[in-house]
Amino acid sequence: MSSLQVESLTKTFGGLQAVQDVSFSVAIGTVHSIIGPNGAGKTTLINMITGMYAPTSGRIMLDTMDITRLRPQKLPALGLARTFQNLQVCMNMTALENVMVGAHLRQNSGLIAGLLSLPTLRKNDRDCRQEALELMEKVGVARFAGSQAAQMPYGALKRLEIARALMTHPSIVLMDEPAAGLNPTETSEIGEVLRRLGEEGMTVVLVEHDMPLVMRVSDAITVLDHGKKLADGTPAEIRNNPAVIAAYLGAEPMGVEAGAMP
Ligand SMILES: Nc1ncnc2c1ncn2[C@@H]1O[C@H](COP(=O)(O)OP(=O)(O)O)[C@@H](O)[C@H]1O
Ligand SMILES: [Mg+2]
Repeated sequence: MSSLQVESLTKTFGGLQAVQDVSFSVAIGTVHSIIGPNGAGKTTLINMITGMYAPTSGRIMLDTMDITRLRPQKLPALGLARTFQNLQVCMNMTALENVMVGAHLRQNSGLIAGLLSLPTLRKNDRDCRQEALELMEKVGVARFAGSQAAQMPYGALKRLEIARALMTHPSIVLMDEPAAGLNPTETSEIGEVLRRLGEEGMTVVLVEHDMPLVMRVSDAITVLDHGKKLADGTPAEIRNNPAVIAAYLGAEPMGVEAGAMP
């Protein structure tokens, strides 16, 4: 079990301050959403937390461990997994194989084990298959197990990415816009997956535009605007925060009945 602390994180690209002095903590077992208009710095923040961008300044702590400058490949073994805003699925592999890749990210012994094909390793492979199938079941894509990823609907691929992330046995999963580009049915399926993960006590950092979804599944919300933290609090606090409303929501308070943010 891990908590995540982001301390005064800043990232500049040339003259642009994409993220400016942002701090927040994600408590164990909570769904913590990061929201804000396009260009607010949400993906940049996730990319820093997951080691893909080196921060210009600031610190990222996983429990008591400083993970600020660790390479992305080191993070699954420490319990940090992610999904991507732009789908990162191997289209020429089956759905099941894509999920099984998650186990190799965790163990890093996949290639040699596969080549030697020893009985114990074959057992591992069986266990790995079984676990991948169970996770696919959990996110509602088990029926696609034998399908080529390329044949799957977009909404199912987004859930497949979540299954792959879970395959690394994470203590924290970061998801960058899991509902982006999905129709309402697919969005509610993602909502169901998030709700279940929340109930199971998984720690989730969620970047998402769909406000009804965010309000439904979040324990805490951090709002970014132009790279800066504008507010954080519970969904009710954020919904009624005048600065948040003024920044990009117009005069209407954010209810669960409100539409997606612009
Ligand atoms: N690799 C990069 N190089 C230069 N500018 C970038 C890069 N990544 C993001 N930006 C800029 O940083 C700002 C924040 O982008 P981003 O983090 O993608 O926002 P969000 O995910 O909230 O929409 C934007 O102005 C974007 O153009
Ligand atoms: Mg983004």
